[in-house]
Amino acid sequence: MKPKFIPVTGPSITRKEIEYVAQATKDGWNENCTKYVDLFEKKFASYVGRKYSLATSSCTGAIHLAYLALGLKSGDEVIVPNITWIAGVEPLYYIGAKPVFADIDPETWCIDPNDIERKITKKTKAILVVDLYGNMPKMDSIAKIAKKHGLEIIEDAAEAVGCEYYGKKAGSFGDVSCFSFHGSKTMTTGEGGMLLADSRDIIEKAEYYNDHCKDSQKTFWNLEIGYKYKMSNFQAACGLAQLERIEELVEKKRQIFYWYRERLSGVPGLRLNVEPAKTKNTYWMVTVVIDKQCNIGKEMILDRLSKLNIQARPFFYPLSSLPAINRKVDTPISFDISSRALNLPCGLKTTREQVDYVCKSLLKIINCLK
Ligand SMILES: Cc1ncc(COP(=O)(O)O)c(C=O)c1O
Repeated sequence: MKPKFIPVTGPSITRKEIEYVAQATKDGWNENCTKYVDLFEKKFASYVGRKYSLATSSCTGAIHLAYLALGLKSGDEVIVPNITWIAGVEPLYYIGAKPVFADIDPETWCIDPNDIERKITKKTKAILVVDLYGNMPKMDSIAKIAKKHGLEIIEDAAEAVGCEYYGKKAGSFGDVSCFSFHGSKTMTTGEGGMLLADSRDIIEKAEYYNDHCKDSQKTFWNLEIGYKYKMSNFQAACGLAQLERIEELVEKKRQIFYWYRERLSGVPGLRLNVEPAKTKNTYWMVTVVIDKQCNIGKEMILDRLSKLNIQARPFFYPLSSLPAINRKVDTPISFDISSRALNLPCGLKTTREQVDYVCKSLLKIINCLK
């Protein structure tokens, strides 16, 4: 008998979130119209270990503001990993800058520092580093390259709340970092994001662009064409409740990964997320890479899992291969891993029994097709 639908992601919402949001609907107005947003910004920055923060309506918006605040403009080149969600790259197109696609590291699936160096030109201004699925990139090497060539670093930590690299939290690297609080993420505000920096100047610029480029001295007087990616008090109240539970949420993600590891590690032909020494992975997406010898593509597996009521996700496609971008680039590892990897259900409500069922189903699918 097929079990109930197993979703690939999903939040953990308790009475705390409901009560905090309800409170914000009661008193988050007039002189309190940014009360919860201000508090959430302050507490989240302190959790990550950054000086300044700006809550936004999405991580996509936060990344757009980050590029604007760093002064990136038309014709500038930014080196980005060829494997990530498109949200980090689209804002480069908004401002006329050019993404230059670098390959990924075969272990962490994050941007490969060696390929960054190869792709630097006179026009390169910045590097977008993504903490993919909760894996941490080789930040030390990337920071050295950035310093040597005078490049800015934007850390896209959308998927990495709670991760650590040599004792420092995800989101505390580079000049600017951004988080997502989309409903699929480890902590959520429904939709939402955050931009963080240690430079007051960067945050002030981001605030200016995020407030329609208003003159600070004259009401309704706009100096340039601006943007608005603001978070509401309701979302921030939800974020405050989630932040109070962050250790529990992160532990649950790690627990889910351990259940998968118990069932799948050591199975020939399968590889799961890694946690290199001195890093902490919060396993936003439990991911399995299937050996070439198994001779089965990710779409076929996804299709078969779906027939068993299991929702899984394809590993991101190389961005350069998407119709939206459609550019020829030399990133063989991105293409190889993407073709044979997928994300397994690991929402915060996932149970051990569901993990057992997913693993049994996956192994059956792979074996019967060998
Ligand atoms: C790596 C990465 N960057 C950016 C985003 C964009 O986040 P949002 O949906 O909050 O705009 C996501 C969302 O899934 C993501 O995974």
